[in-house]
Amino acid sequence: MRLEDLGLREGINETIAVTFFEDGRPNTAPVGVVVKDGKAKVRLYPSHTRNNVEREGRIWINVVWDPIVFALSTFEDLGEEWFESIKPPILRNALAWCEFECVAVGDGNPAEFELRLRDGSVVRREVRAVNRGFNALLEALICATRIETDAGMRSRIRELSRIVEKCGDSRTKEAFEIVLRRIR
Ligand SMILES: Cc1cc2nc3c(=O)[nH]c(=O)nc-3n(C[C@H](O)[C@H](O)[C@H](O)COP(=O)(O)O)c2cc1C
Repeated sequence: MRLEDLGLREGINETIAVTFFEDGRPNTAPVGVVVKDGKAKVRLYPSHTRNNVEREGRIWINVVWDPIVFALSTFEDLGEEWFESIKPPILRNALAWCEFECVAVGDGNPAEFELRLRDGSVVRREVRAVNRGFNALLEALICATRIETDAGMRSRIRELSRIVEKCGDSRTKEAFEIVLRRIR
């Protein structure tokens, strides 16, 4: 099994990471899986995801294109109704999932973890053209996570809203509304 077969290619792959709290509840968050020279890693700022990875040494990555899943999981955790399976954790509309063992590398911030592939499969195959509205939504979500520390993020989100309006589908526009509500 190769990273590429599971949809993870060279560069930064925007995915939904699932980890588990001590009480067994799943935690979801968008995370960029960095692939270089056939190896995968993540860089994690302080978050529930990072706490869980540090405690359990495991992360499950879902490859998914749903804009609402990205928007909701940026701000909160998706409930179990969003999953088609909990063990392993697979989101309802995921294209692929993988389980990784996480090995801490160094002690900087963000904390870096090498990811060692343990399991995974392709759940469904979908042909899809690039959509600038979806890409703009992802940018806006990243801006929203930085809004407390960077004053320029609000105007950037306003610029991105024009691209979402012009290029996005209705679900992407709905996801963008979630961003706007959260930053108000
Ligand atoms: C597209 C996207 C990619 C992200 N990638 C990362 C990442 O690679 N590392 C990270 O620490 N946070 C990343 N974030 C921010 C986290 O998803 C965000 O801080 C989230 O609220 C953490 O949730 P948690 O506390 O439930 O783990 C990303 C956010 C978005 C929207």
